[in-house]
Amino acid sequence: MSFRCQACGYRSPKWLGRCPQCGEYGTFAEEKETPSSIPPELVAPEPPKPLPEVPAPPPERLSTGMPEVDRVLGGLVPGAVVLFGGEPGIGKSTLLLELAANIADRYGKVLYVSGEEAPSQVKLRAQRLGRESPNLYLLSTQDLLAILNAVSRVAPVALVVDSLQTVLADPQGGEVGSLAQVRESAAQLSRVAKTAGILTFLVSHITKEGGFAGPKTVEHLVDVAVYLEGIREGDLRILRCVKNRYGSTAEVAVLEMTGKGLVEVPNPSLFFVSKEATPRPGTAIVPVLEGTRTLLVEVQALVTPSGGYGPPQRRMAGLDLNRTLVLLAVIEKHLGVHTRALDVYLAVAGGLEVIEPAADLGICAAVLSSLRDRPIPMDTVILGEVGLAGDLRPVRKGPERLQEVAKLGFRRAIVAHQPLPKKLDLEVVRAKTLREGMEALELL
Ligand code: TYD
Ligand code: MG
Repeated sequence: MSFRCQACGYRSPKWLGRCPQCGEYGTFAEEKETPSSIPPELVAPEPPKPLPEVPAPPPERLSTGMPEVDRVLGGLVPGAVVLFGGEPGIGKSTLLLELAANIADRYGKVLYVSGEEAPSQVKLRAQRLGRESPNLYLLSTQDLLAILNAVSRVAPVALVVDSLQTVLADPQGGEVGSLAQVRESAAQLSRVAKTAGILTFLVSHITKEGGFAGPKTVEHLVDVAVYLEGIREGDLRILRCVKNRYGSTAEVAVLEMTGKGLVEVPNPSLFFVSKEATPRPGTAIVPVLEGTRTLLVEVQALVTPSGGYGPPQRRMAGLDLNRTLVLLAVIEKHLGVHTRALDVYLAVAGGLEVIEPAADLGICAAVLSSLRDRPIPMDTVILGEVGLAGDLRPVRKGPERLQEVAKLGFRRAIVAHQPLPKKLDLEVVRAKTLREGMEALELL
């Protein structure tokens, strides 16, 4: 046992009130003796390994502070380059400012470079969002050199460049926003991200004219590419992954634009179904797949006698026109229901696009429900692909969808003949043909 002065390190075999070396009072504390010889098995519990066999440490995964967004991005690592595409005004800058502030709060400095807005404008938005992180650094420039300079001065954990189309990489390389400039900027920024280990977000606008110098042109340069989509008038946004070096591309996140920025919709399954109490004719609920998510959507039909002049109206919103015209022909041929003198309007509520054939049976049911003015019970979902012969075909991931439907409290499902989950708290009618399906719904 020995005692040591905590001020100067003087050692003594017994406790002293005052240190004889530095003269301080009450600084002696007992010190445990360390064993002089450490047993060899404690020093090296495993035999030494050749370098190639030593496992690399798992890369640290960064979170954006929004679990739904993290799910889509597949877990971010330092040095990853993420492309955020989307139409102007959809909410890219809003979302990235939120993510930047979250990352700044969690991990340290984040540099947000805007080529479109002054720092004061970005600050105003951050205030509105209530995300004024002191670790968030703002810079307004279009000059790639200035961005790189700022990166080396700030040494951020993450970098946001909003947007690629406003970065001038090469003064001799043509206009800002040209294909050459956009590519060069993306390439140089990715290189910096990799060498300095900076998580980098690149924003890119989808231009109205199509893909010119848009996000598609740099997708090959990045690790993860996501798109923010939605109907511009609506509040709902879908973040969809199209490329991911770190995870699956099947995931989507549903976000809602509010007065306080984009917020996650944690259980979006029922988001697209209206919350009305009484069923209305012409409405059918269909469980569609978005990524691995089952979303319930409302297919709405309005069938009315047409004016008489010219061909009847066929208008679709959120559905494929050609596919729907085929379904009307199948209804005509195999159910003997004539729609030739009727206007047919179809829409998917909530602004979602439904292109899955799994919605066929639901579309037919909505049309007949409107035509007969007979509502479909609201506790019923409809699922199945309709063949040209009036037959029904099973859908992809049918059992998973039905499981989710049962969980959400629906009582009945009219589906194509297909495998069912073993335990299912749902009354399921398996129909072989369109006619059988419509009979089960009492629509014939
Ligand atoms: P923005 O992020 O600027 O879109 P992008 O960068 O993709 O062009 O979003 C613009 C729209 O979002 C704008 O019409 C205003 C709206 N908005 C809100 O509704 N709530 C908010 O909190 C914010 C910041 C924006
Ligand atoms: Mg913007």
